[in-house]
Amino acid sequence: MKQGVITAAAVLLLASAAGIAQQNPQAKNFPPEQIKRGAVLYAANCESCHGVQMIGPPWATDLNKFPRDKPERFADSVANGVRAMPPWGDVLKPDEIQALWAYVVAGEPGDK
Ligand code: HEC
Repeated sequence: MKQGVITAAAVLLLASAAGIAQQNPQAKNFPPEQIKRGAVLYAANCESCHGVQMIGPPWATDLNKFPRDKPERFADSVANGVRAMPPWGDVLKPDEIQALWAYVVAGEPGDK
């Protein structure tokens, strides 16, 4: 009986550890410097509409929900704009847009 409880606890622990890892499987694909650079660019250019740390007002796209498997769409939308979203292609270089992508995918630097 006791062993059953221990096994159940171990399974739960493993399941929640796997859950945390799955939350952000792509964060480790980006160097921390790139994520930090993206965070700075975000605060300077994007925060006013998409909210501090991507906790945004309801009228701009919630970047936390932007599909993680669409980096090309991200780069295209940011460079060329979408409807109410202004284009950034004249302001940001492609590698800066990549840094923003790293920040959007990985979240706040130092969180992980
Ligand atoms: C002037 C306000 C404003 C600023 C500044 C702004 N955005 Fe947006 N953004 C919007 C709005 C509004 C939308 C929703 C557009 C729509 O779908 O109608 C949006 C949508 C998006 C989308 C979703 C596009 C898609 O394909 O669905 C991305 C990604 C995005 N913004 C990234 C950024 C980044 C990165 C920055 C900083 C470089 C930024 N935004 C700055 C207003 C803004």
